[in-house]
Amino acid sequence: MTRRMNRWIPPVLVAAGTALVFAGLAVAADDALKFMPRGGRELLIEVKAKCANCDDLVTLVTTRRSADDWQKYFTGKQSTVTGLSDAEKRKGALATFTEKQIRTLTAYLSINLPLARDQLPRDPARAQWEAVLPVDGRKLTLDRCMGCHSLATTILISGDLNGWGVIMRKSDHVNLGMNAQQLQELLHYLAINMPVPENEIPDEFKKGTGGY
Ligand code: HEC
Repeated sequence: MTRRMNRWIPPVLVAAGTALVFAGLAVAADDALKFMPRGGRELLIEVKAKCANCDDLVTLVTTRRSADDWQKYFTGKQSTVTGLSDAEKRKGALATFTEKQIRTLTAYLSINLPLARDQLPRDPARAQWEAVLPVDGRKLTLDRCMGCHSLATTILISGDLNGWGVIMRKSDHVNLGMNAQQLQELLHYLAINMPVPENEIPDEFKKGTGGY
């Protein structure tokens, strides 16, 4: 009996311990990754949260607009943020967002929306929108660009859309498992947000298996 208990308990404890370690790592990793510019998914949730009179999220994510039209749409709405300067007020619901964040957001929306009705959560009010919305360039970069070389290889470089397109079409990069829409999202995110200043990148993200 004792023997059987002994054989049973450890795996349970190990599993519980492992779950805790992973939960802890996830939080630590989130903090450590603050240097990565925010992506369109997070920015959409934030602009919606700070908007006094925008449409609901279901309406927003089922609407097709160009990047320019998304900017006009949000500029025509009001921010709930108080104490804004006149210049910030003119940005409407986009007040407090930087120029790069606005471009990242509007590119994300124009590339990834509209969502089909069957992609929407059943209970929009309680939905985890982060899990429903298409992955953004930040997430794609973190998920797909650290397997062969350090993240720094990617985020210390600046380039326009075309330049990033050339890099991503190189043979080393053609099998990264992204569909056409994700590739466009990635290219726009990188073109707008890179480079990250080197002194903001923690050393752990400069090391990579490729030794770059
Ligand atoms: C399957 C392995 C692999 C993955 C995953 C990968 N890369 Fe690379 N990448 C390489 C190799 C190999 C090189 C080095 C080529 C060289 O030395 O010229 C490279 C070089 C680069 C460079 C340096 C510029 C250049 O053209 O040499 C950039 C920028 C880059 N990768 C970006 C990315 C981005 C962005 C992602 C994620 C979307 C990514 N890489 C994911 C293999 C990979």
